[in-house]
Amino acid sequence: MTLKQALSRARGILAAGNIEDARLESELLIRHTLKISQVQLYLDLDRKLSLNQEQTFWQLIRRRLGGEPTAYITKHREFYGLDFYVSPDVLIPRPESELLVEMALDLIQNRPVPTIAEIGTGCGAVAISLALKLPRAKIYATDISALALKVALFNCQRHGVVDRICLLHGDMLDPLPEPVDLVVANLPYVDKLEMPESANFEPLLALDGGSDGLEKIYQLCQQVTDMLRPDGYLLLEIGQGQGKGVTTYLHSLFSSAKIKIAPDLSGIERVVSLRLTHNPAGDKLINWVLPENKEQAMNRRRNGHYEYNCLRQAGN
Ligand SMILES: C[S@@+](CC[C@H](N)C(=O)[O-])C[C@H]1O[C@@H](n2cnc3c(N)ncnc32)[C@H](O)[C@@H]1O
Repeated sequence: MTLKQALSRARGILAAGNIEDARLESELLIRHTLKISQVQLYLDLDRKLSLNQEQTFWQLIRRRLGGEPTAYITKHREFYGLDFYVSPDVLIPRPESELLVEMALDLIQNRPVPTIAEIGTGCGAVAISLALKLPRAKIYATDISALALKVALFNCQRHGVVDRICLLHGDMLDPLPEPVDLVVANLPYVDKLEMPESANFEPLLALDGGSDGLEKIYQLCQQVTDMLRPDGYLLLEIGQGQGKGVTTYLHSLFSSAKIKIAPDLSGIERVVSLRLTHNPAGDKLINWVLPENKEQAMNRRRNGHYEYNCLRQAGN
């Protein structure tokens, strides 16, 4: 059987099995079988497959038909024009998350030495894409999964940014040693009652956003105050239909911050951005408004209930 014949048959089988992009997926799987580039594939369409190669290829097609994502079979996924190693310990990076990178670059690239924290880095795709575009940036990338961080470390080494990205293990912002200019996060946002089929393969920890899918996002919003510098930004990837809930929640926490939603290429609200407004009188408020209860004010701040409106009034 020639490569062309194998591809055509595989495409038909995958399409009949309701696999989207059957053509692309069969090409990726045959290239993986033969370890060849896309150009080589198109040049060699009349080449004959050996029996061994045929067997391997049909085995991969069977795995794909069984629901296993192609990226886990080939152990690769392209993101922001870069190749990343992926394993079942990490979420396969999605094209829509490239918007997080684009927006982060827009917001932060003019700062002389921007400090960035990516929370829930997974395979490291977002943090590494930023590190390569922002050579002066100082970047922290955290994850609660130690196994995911191993994958991120491998990708940092592969892309030559191991000295530029500090990988930290822990819950949300806990492991950060200092406040940053930008917190960027694509946290799990799938409603736990609506897990997709891929949840059989992708880590639950990377998908399960609890009730309404918003538990982790809200947790981060509550904590972010202490870890954002004045004039800092928060960028959050969200799921379809979550925009209103997240912006309303953020407005309740940060009544004078600038909050916006950006759509992805399909027009779906995808990234919420929040900008804190700089107020040098910030610490004064704690001493001045609540002199007898500084401890309580500090707790409020730690818990994310810091009132930026009040800060502005205190500064005037
Ligand atoms: C949706 S995945 C995103 C991975 C990657 N940033 C991307 O965009 O492809 C969410 C990541 O958040 C991590 N995570 C889940 N809960 C967390 C928590 N409480 N603190 C830090 N990371 C968490 C998961 O382990 C997973 O790697």
